[in-house]
Amino acid sequence: MFELHDATMIYDMDKEEKVYAMKSMNLTLPDKGLIGIIGPSGSGKSTLMYTMSTLKKLTSGEILYNGKSLSDISSSEKQDLRRNEFGFVFQRHYLINYLTALENATVAATIPVLEARQKAEKLLLEIGLKKSELNHRPNKLSGGQRQRVAIARAMMNDPKVLFADEPTASLDHENAFLVMERLREYAKERLVIVITHDVSIIEDADMIVKIWDGSISDVAVKGA
Ligand SMILES: Nc1ncnc2c1ncn2[C@@H]1O[C@H](COP(=O)(O)OP(=O)(O)O)[C@@H](O)[C@H]1O
Ligand SMILES: [Mg+2]
Repeated sequence: MFELHDATMIYDMDKEEKVYAMKSMNLTLPDKGLIGIIGPSGSGKSTLMYTMSTLKKLTSGEILYNGKSLSDISSSEKQDLRRNEFGFVFQRHYLINYLTALENATVAATIPVLEARQKAEKLLLEIGLKKSELNHRPNKLSGGQRQRVAIARAMMNDPKVLFADEPTASLDHENAFLVMERLREYAKERLVIVITHDVSIIEDADMIVKIWDGSISDVAVKGA
């Protein structure tokens, strides 16, 4: 589904101090499964996710999605991809302050409202929110609860690819486990790409891609 060919991303191209965030990365990802992207802070993980999901453009090289180069498609095609095929959990979760947890989870849902509410409620309970918390606004939720609302929101439209940047960063072990269990379940049918610097949460991923200083240093495929 994704193919990277010498994918390179340099920030501050016009400045003297260039930042080589992605250096000639080559990688092929399957159509479904749980992919862990691991590496220290500053190694280029988020940049990789931004370029794969069309939010940032490569400096050189290319990323193919279903055989099409992301550099060749129009901005409206990119928007369609992001809306219809990709789901996002960002490092910062960007919830809307005046909406409840449940409303935040359904805010971009494309299915009818009542159906969306039922689906969001089920998802939120599965990943460890309590029923009483569904009507809380973000300022009454902990960081971990907000993060889980963002995860439910990202899963609402059943995206073909779910990009999650440090989705368990503000969760304790028990809740991180619940979230990863749900993502693994989702990865049976879809592609789930989880960025983390905590190897313990992706130990049983189908593929683990290690990033070091802008380069892919290792790719481990489960059972291979
Ligand atoms: N918008 C930006 N402008 C300039 N440099 C950036 C920008 N975003 C990230 N970087 C730099 O690119 C490198 C990779 O960053 P990032 O992809 O965020 O890594 P990670 O997610 O692994 O922590 C780092 O050196 C970071 O400082
Ligand atoms: Mg990052």
